[in-house]
Amino acid sequence: MKKNPIDVFSNWALIGRDETMAQGHENSVREMLELVTIDNKKFSFIDVGCGNGWVVRKISDYPHCEYAAGVDGSQNMIDKAKSMGVGRDFFCRDIRCWIPPRTFDIVHSMEVFYYVEQPDILIRNIFDFWLNPMGKLIMGIDFYHENTPCHSWQEDCGINIMQLFSKNTWISFFTEAGFRKITSYHFGAKDNWKGTLVVMGEK
Ligand SMILES: C[S@@+](CC[C@H](N)C(=O)[O-])C[C@H]1O[C@@H](n2cnc3c(N)ncnc32)[C@H](O)[C@@H]1O
Repeated sequence: MKKNPIDVFSNWALIGRDETMAQGHENSVREMLELVTIDNKKFSFIDVGCGNGWVVRKISDYPHCEYAAGVDGSQNMIDKAKSMGVGRDFFCRDIRCWIPPRTFDIVHSMEVFYYVEQPDILIRNIFDFWLNPMGKLIMGIDFYHENTPCHSWQEDCGINIMQLFSKNTWISFFTEAGFRKITSYHFGAKDNWKGTLVVMGEK
């Protein structure tokens, strides 16, 4: 029987698979962070579905970063994040319904949004309740329709919610939420692998 994503990733945190996962995401995230901080302005930042908190630790070293936090539904991931990221804020919450206690200039997320039943509602909530005016949402996902090698992942990982949408559907979620200046990219494409689909928009 398939399990819910938070239970699966909680187990990954226990067996150390969070670290290999972070390594696998590192190249795309490096490019995403470069893209979203290119204007050299001071910023506050939250990582949505932060896993063991590696992106929060990384961005905290950027000279223009004034505040960085992470949220994840897995207590095991958050315990790890807190143990390695002393001084940063890590919240153990379900992103489907959480409203953060403050707003941010940058909301970042890597490989998370397709694990919720209604990502369009999550993206709308981020626009309405998580972002400052002119704030940016940047999302990276490897699991999307055009990236055919990922189609077996739901069976491979035994996860009960994984939403396989097309690139245009993801972009339409940003448009419908009210984002402007929407741009999209494919990072790390090679042969059959279409790369990480990155969508970014501004409030
Ligand atoms: C594929 S992992 C990615 C982790 C991290 N972004 C990274 O790149 O290493 C997905 C993460 O999303 C979290 N997650 C999934 N559904 C969630 C939900 N409804 N609320 C909060 N976190 C959730 C999982 O616990 C897991 O840590």
